[in-house]
Amino acid sequence: MIITNIGRLTGILDPSVRCLRGREMDDVYCIDNAWLRFKDGVITGFGEMRSCPVNDEVVDAEGGIVIPAFCDSHTHIVWAGDRSGEFVDKIEGKSYEEIAANGGGILNSSDLLNSVSDDELYTTAARRLRQVMAMGTGAIEIKTGYGLTLEGELKMLRVIERLRDDFPMMEIKATFLGAHAVGRAYAGRQGEYVRHVVDDMLPQMAGRADFVDVFCDKGFFTVEETDSILKAAASYGMKPKIHANELDCSGGVQVGVDNGALSVDHLERIGEEEIKVLAASDTVATMLPGASFFLGMPYGPARKAVDEGCTVALASDYNPGSSPSGSMPFVMSLGCIKMKLSPERAFNAVTINGAAAMGLAGRCGSMSIGKNASFIIYKSYAPSLPYIIHAYSEPTIAAVYLKGERI
Ligand code: NIG
Ligand code: FE
Repeated sequence: MIITNIGRLTGILDPSVRCLRGREMDDVYCIDNAWLRFKDGVITGFGEMRSCPVNDEVVDAEGGIVIPAFCDSHTHIVWAGDRSGEFVDKIEGKSYEEIAANGGGILNSSDLLNSVSDDELYTTAARRLRQVMAMGTGAIEIKTGYGLTLEGELKMLRVIERLRDDFPMMEIKATFLGAHAVGRAYAGRQGEYVRHVVDDMLPQMAGRADFVDVFCDKGFFTVEETDSILKAAASYGMKPKIHANELDCSGGVQVGVDNGALSVDHLERIGEEEIKVLAASDTVATMLPGASFFLGMPYGPARKAVDEGCTVALASDYNPGSSPSGSMPFVMSLGCIKMKLSPERAFNAVTINGAAAMGLAGRCGSMSIGKNASFIIYKSYAPSLPYIIHAYSEPTIAAVYLKGERI
């Protein structure tokens, strides 16, 4: 199959590129007036229209730009019920921490999750997955962390595994986030809950979840607790991707980097020190502007982090409490509008660097021969990255293909 008359084939990289660091994020390689060929879900060639091969199955992009599908490296799309009541509390001025302290927040989602069946949980998560696919997401990381009991966490993992089976056109990675909050049954016994995570939950996640996560922040888990969970997970071969520095300068960045984290995520509250540590590491600095937008928090210093040499990714954090949107087009726009990233940097942050933050850069995140034929064709009136990013709510997407299949 071949796509012809592509106005600008955007995001071409050598297949060996694993991430873009610092000022490497300033460049986006393109071919104007291009074709793109794929077979069995994989890109097999591209070039300029004047050298277009003759092929039987042709789709005319009518001059629209084509970009790789988005790589959303941080989500919590498996949840039950909704938290719209807390939304109203927030409007009335309650903070995220106050809502959590009053039994809302993550524990509210945990109660809801533990009261529904696998099927019910699967149905709503599948709906969210289809919705983000239509908005151009082709690779996604999904966390547990609303079970907070052994059975609840396993239920979430089963749902993620079922999504992976039923949506083969998506790349799906599973992350175990048992230490998202202290489960209700362990209220006031945080140390015992951490031992429960390590002794009872982790062994059952081993070989099934790809990564491990801990909410290392003020009012949640300490650096020492995080370290002990990450070390235990390492013995099962699970790499960390952790929540750090959202609510406070928590030490989360350092403990993540010290434990070889694939990414440390949130980073609304990082300073010079954390940026230095990240720039000197192979850990991806993942920022979640949708959470800042929804909670009215500061935005992570993405522009400075890129200037200082970090590998920066942006992700949606799609979850019921702090970021009820999985729109990666909107995330890319927030990256530019609120974080002052250039369109090129924001684009690289939601494609190749998002792939890097999931260990998927060999398969996703760029237009490269041998990678997934997962891409977005835009309408021809939206001819450039600056256009699609600035028109932040316009339905500029004409078509989404994931592993060669039109969604
Ligand atoms: O990434 N910060 C911690 N966890 C989620 C929020 C979870 C929730 O409020 O349900 C986040 O923002
Ligand atoms: Fe999160």
